[in-house]
Amino acid sequence: MSEDRRGRLETDPGMSLVEAVYARRSVRGYLDREVAPEMLERIFEIAQQAPSNCNVQPWKVFVASGELKNKLSAQMVQRTREGVAPNPDYPYRGDFENDYRRRQVECAVALYTEMGIERGDREGRQRAVLRNFEFFDAPNIAFIGMDPAFGTTVAIDVGMWAQTLMLTLTAFGLHSCPMGTMRNYPDLIREAFDIQDDTRILFGIAFGYEDPTVPANRTVTSRDPISTNVVFRS
Ligand SMILES: Cc1cc2nc3c(=O)[nH]c(=O)nc-3n(C[C@H](O)[C@H](O)[C@H](O)COP(=O)(O)O)c2cc1C
Repeated sequence: MSEDRRGRLETDPGMSLVEAVYARRSVRGYLDREVAPEMLERIFEIAQQAPSNCNVQPWKVFVASGELKNKLSAQMVQRTREGVAPNPDYPYRGDFENDYRRRQVECAVALYTEMGIERGDREGRQRAVLRNFEFFDAPNIAFIGMDPAFGTTVAIDVGMWAQTLMLTLTAFGLHSCPMGTMRNYPDLIREAFDIQDDTRILFGIAFGYEDPTVPANRTVTSRDPISTNVVFRS
């Protein structure tokens, strides 16, 4: 049932919002260190404060750790290795053009350069793809879905929840990686969590403590100036 909103606890970290926004980045290598269950619960409670259309709170979240996480990873790695065609619940368009394409390439180059993968290194690329399905060794992977009857406009709410979660993780000294690749085999997720309702999987978020020695974690992405995205007028 509904709960009152409690606000900040004394034990919560003091990182400012601006610091959290700049400290968050996609981390693709984690330490073998569990996140304390009480901390996890607090983080998800804070993320739950995200806004949503008519306050419907449409996000459905399934967090796997331990043996279940390892099993899902093994299944996804196997399917990817065997070239099993993805069967996403929500269609994905990856063929970007113009500025979108330029940014997509820049981000891939930034990552692959740190990983030591050169152009045309097909094996290296395949290895990089598989790292997704190993969840980058994160101790936790959250799968995020919603009822498709909501459509695009309510999917916006799920995105807002996701960024709230990732910023909160950052404030608590954790890191994360949002993962569209977690769309690929939603049947495995439904089976693992015994999902019987209409929830369809949108994406995933791997999270845990960063392993700073992993080269991929040196990746720095850029942002275009706000004039390319934002118009102010009065
Ligand atoms: C919805 C979404 C899906 C993403 N999917 C993946 C993914 O499957 N694998 C991956 O390595 N990174 C993935 N990313 C991370 C982006 O590449 C990353 O956010 C972007 O390059 C900007 O870098 P930053 O997060 O470090 O600021 C995803 C990001 C978002 C928001």
